[in-house]
Amino acid sequence: MPCVLVCGGQWGDEGKGKIVAYLSLKYRPHLVARAGVGPNAGHTVHFGGRKFGLRQVPCGFVYEGARLLIGPGVLVNPDVLLREVEETGTGGRLGVDERCALIEPHHVERDRGSEHLSRRIGTTGSGCGPANEDRVRRVARLAREEERLRPFLTDVPLELHEALERGRKVLIEGSQGFGLSLVHGTYPYVTSKDTCAGTMLADVGVGPTRVSEVLLVFKAYATRVGEGPFPTEMPQEEAERLGIVEYGTVTGRRRRVGYFDFEMARRAAIINGATQLAITCLDRLFRGCAGARRWEELTEEARSFVRRVEEATGVPVTLLSTGEGIEDVIDLSRGRL
Ligand code: IMP
Ligand code: MG
Repeated sequence: MPCVLVCGGQWGDEGKGKIVAYLSLKYRPHLVARAGVGPNAGHTVHFGGRKFGLRQVPCGFVYEGARLLIGPGVLVNPDVLLREVEETGTGGRLGVDERCALIEPHHVERDRGSEHLSRRIGTTGSGCGPANEDRVRRVARLAREEERLRPFLTDVPLELHEALERGRKVLIEGSQGFGLSLVHGTYPYVTSKDTCAGTMLADVGVGPTRVSEVLLVFKAYATRVGEGPFPTEMPQEEAERLGIVEYGTVTGRRRRVGYFDFEMARRAAIINGATQLAITCLDRLFRGCAGARRWEELTEEARSFVRRVEEATGVPVTLLSTGEGIEDVIDLSRGRL
């Protein structure tokens, strides 16, 4: 590895959870640190016959040897976190940075009760926007002030630094995606923070010179939940005809579906400084690719799509996901992950 950052190239829900789970099982990182906004993200992992929709605990939990960290830039809702810790049985290896700002019940109420946020923007109602407002106003409470988080408190940047100094592998799990960035996305229909590589690193406290690879994840088609522009959106009937019907992990809302946006992908690759790309859900768009584990097993149509993505972005595609299972992956990274 030694230090790989995974981030999203579309509007979230690219399948980062699955990719992080695969990398964790295959490459066995010492630490997996979660970055991004907070529990507005839901990362899905199918593991051990169960489906997990994780909003706080890193998806790297599937590799039992990994210590799991939540970086200081990530918002923490203690109720959501503690529920997931129990569900995943990860209490013994989880570290929450003492500087994480807290989401409290009034933040959730403010998010859901605001006409502007809940209706016009179509937020997830998880309280992230109002909690980040309070953080900027410097009135938010931090994890170190929350009794229930005491057993998990740690210094995440220091743990990451020490691991990297010892030459150990570190995986940074970003959340959301390029189009949702407060800075680079489709403002005002965005989340409450930048969602690109630079900010993901700041979220966990790793300097930009320490990263070896930025793996940018795309889905073979695009989806979006909530309001906002979607230039390649297709009519719902067309999505149904293609058999693509998705619901949000956090909110249960039906996702809008569109064609792959090559122009947006190029911009996402530039701004994230992507060194490798992953493409997920190839099997959903291209029949006959389900469960493929070798490049040669893909249909010609799927292969030419992958080549077009590489041409548009100038970045090699090194991981392809061909099914829900963690092992349904074509890995072309040749030791670079
Ligand atoms: P908020 O982040 O809850 O404030 O929501 C702002 C916008 O970002 C809405 O359109 C949400 O649907 C979207 N959003 C935030 N996080 C995610 C995510 O992880 N996946 C998909 N959409 C997200
Ligand atoms: Mg999601």
